Amino acid sequence: MLNIVTLGDERLKKHSIVVPEFDGEIESLAEQMFETMHVNKGIGLAAVQVGKLIRMFITDIPKDGPRVFINPEVVETSFGQATYEEGCLSIPEVNADVVRPQQVRIQAWNLKGRPFSVDADDMLARVVQHELDHLNGVLFIDRLDPKKRERLVKRYEKVHTG
Ligand code: NI
Repeated sequence: MLNIVTLGDERLKKHSIVVPEFDGEIESLAEQMFETMHVNKGIGLAAVQVGKLIRMFITDIPKDGPRVFINPEVVETSFGQATYEEGCLSIPEVNADVVRPQQVRIQAWNLKGRPFSVDADDMLARVVQHELDHLNGVLFIDRLDPKKRERLVKRYEKVHTG
């Protein structure tokens, strides 16, 4: 089990770097990330959230199953937008509605170093965009109205730092 980096840690604001090679180290990191995510009942987890600033995230949502995205990029975005309530393992107990494109096409590499692309809709599109934000140092609360963001951060600090 890996430790999850939480709000206030500067690493969450950093850009992650491109994964240069696909080796056993990446594979075992992915394995540990899945374990950590499942124990914490998450559906998506970016490497930065376990303290590794590399461009990789995992997802496991119902009716889709486990996926690993390495060096991912969104290559197409729908005009249509959707509102979903988001949460994040790095900001426990905070949820808020976030507006994002409803569908995205994402290109990435898998653990074997093979490129693939996915047309993501609904929950997968949502999770993929949320996780990709992590790789660029952006949290879902950063996409909210600044006043709302501030309120949520204050509430979070109250709960988690006493
Ligand atoms: Ni998150």
